[in-house]
Amino acid sequence: MCGIVGYTGSAAAEPILVEGLTRMEYRGYDSAGVAIQEGDAIQVVCRKGKVSELAHTLEHFDFAGTCGIGHTRWATHGKPSEANAHPHTSCAGDIAVVHNGIIENFAELREELVARGHVFSSDTDTEVVAHLVEESYRRMREAGEGDLRAAVAEAVSRLVGAYGLAVMADGEPGTIVACRKDSPIVVGRGEHGSYVASDIIAMIDATRDVVVLADSQMALLTADAVEYFDMDGNPLEPEVTHVDWDIDVAEKGGYPDFMLKEIHEQPRVIRDTLAGRLSGGSLVIDELDLTAEELNLIDRVYVIACGTSYHAGLIAKNLIEGWARIPCEVEVASEFRYRNPIITPTTLVVAVSQSGETADTLAAIRDARVRGAKVFGITNVVGSPVARESDGVIYTKANKEIAVASTKSFLGQVVSLTLLAMLLGQSAGELTQGQIKLLFTELADTAEQVERILDTCGPAVEEAARAMVDAQSALFIGRGMGAATSYEGALKLKEISYLHAEAYAAGEMKHGPIALIDEDFPVIAIATNSPVYDKVVSNLQESRARGARIIAVATEGDEDIRAHADHVIYIPKVRDVFSPITASVPLQLLAREVAVLRGCDVDQPRNLAKSVTVE
Ligand code: F6R
Repeated sequence: MCGIVGYTGSAAAEPILVEGLTRMEYRGYDSAGVAIQEGDAIQVVCRKGKVSELAHTLEHFDFAGTCGIGHTRWATHGKPSEANAHPHTSCAGDIAVVHNGIIENFAELREELVARGHVFSSDTDTEVVAHLVEESYRRMREAGEGDLRAAVAEAVSRLVGAYGLAVMADGEPGTIVACRKDSPIVVGRGEHGSYVASDIIAMIDATRDVVVLADSQMALLTADAVEYFDMDGNPLEPEVTHVDWDIDVAEKGGYPDFMLKEIHEQPRVIRDTLAGRLSGGSLVIDELDLTAEELNLIDRVYVIACGTSYHAGLIAKNLIEGWARIPCEVEVASEFRYRNPIITPTTLVVAVSQSGETADTLAAIRDARVRGAKVFGITNVVGSPVARESDGVIYTKANKEIAVASTKSFLGQVVSLTLLAMLLGQSAGELTQGQIKLLFTELADTAEQVERILDTCGPAVEEAARAMVDAQSALFIGRGMGAATSYEGALKLKEISYLHAEAYAAGEMKHGPIALIDEDFPVIAIATNSPVYDKVVSNLQESRARGARIIAVATEGDEDIRAHADHVIYIPKVRDVFSPITASVPLQLLAREVAVLRGCDVDQPRNLAKSVTVE
């Protein structure tokens, strides 16, 4: 939530900041702003709305400064407005701050600062940081000791909460100080200067070698170098991370939106996630970092996650219990962290998070580890907090996902969790080498099947989308693997098209939801080949008898389904346990198509942000 960027070097800062903010807009898009050092003063320009609004306004300025910071916001404290947009400045305007995170004790700090004569101009939690830095900086300068880095260190020692910060002072031209706690900050050096941002995507065309700051580390950026320190000012030499994806991820590549591009990347994601995972008939997941004996002892699995990642967990439950015969519970992290789950040293907690920085998931990881569980992370972001705070991690190889609605990272999660379930089945002695090999081959084949779906199902998806575009509400139903898939289908639809959608295990229809059904009500059914296919068909008949318009996702060759559905989207036949991988794809396309027809912003749906770093 919120993206911050900073640059100091030999080039003009403004276009670099605007480009960086545009690429990080997925993190929040209700207002944006920049602060640029022009001569001996800091100039701040902010706008409500998207980065494009800011860019438009900046055309009227002629900034030549080569050092600046910028921000794109997802409002937490204070409504979206120009006054609440970052950067925030101190009373004298000589300190500018951009912040990602939440300062939990901002109210008391603000009261204290106001009592000392500070005048605030926004409702945000962030502004207290600018005023605290101002006080420390002024005092240190008057005493002839300390500098901006020391002033920032002193100021953040007062903060409770999460922060990724970049700070400038007009007394130290060409310098940016960055630091973090529970909020991502990456720093890099390019040919023309030094960069800092919440995400490497902001600097990917300048460098792919970055330092992912750890909590309580600071970076001091100047045009020629970056130095790293701990909070006491002792120099550090942090590890450099190389990122192997390139600038293409930040481009739409000829697609009308990132979501469609990312949906089409899914065959590659499946292949990359599986690459190197089978050796001599056995699965290789060394990252788990558990001995064969420790693996064998696992007697309970929790999958904890939020949103789409939680749905990947629902799919995994069926696989883990089915293949490994180990009880598996799937829980949203915001519930898990506040209850008293049964955890023993033989419990495995699997934390799933695309961004690797979701606040609730991170809190749940910490809680589980304190209680003695082994925690295994599944994330898409190298070096993210989930990766760092787990005992082991699988990366989903989706590469950067820009559309706010998760698609390719969801498939990467499902494939990774499938591998984990197979590994648990292998170590529990429930799956033989032969079975593992066969399952792995079929799992790998889904890449080609998804490719085929992408090539063929467009017209059927468009027809189905037109049939439901004016509906007020939609219901997604399925059984078994299809039930888990339908939850994700409903979430995709509601989040990007604003059409209300719910998902139900189809057998639950007659226990309540069937009362909703009339001729204006679309029911989207996952009716692929499965042991419960006939049961799903019965549920379709019940809905149809009450006038529902049925859209079925069915297996190629199933002509009978036409008798029970108004529209059919056919997908290739796969083993039932792999059907979420294939069946999710037309549901993603359907959600996108409905959103396009309804004139919605597919990549940046209202009120959402891609990484949810607040509780
Ligand atoms: C929906 C979506 C969200 C995220 C959720 C968790 O398309 O993307 O529901 O899945 O906010 O985010 P991560 O996976 O980053 O922890």
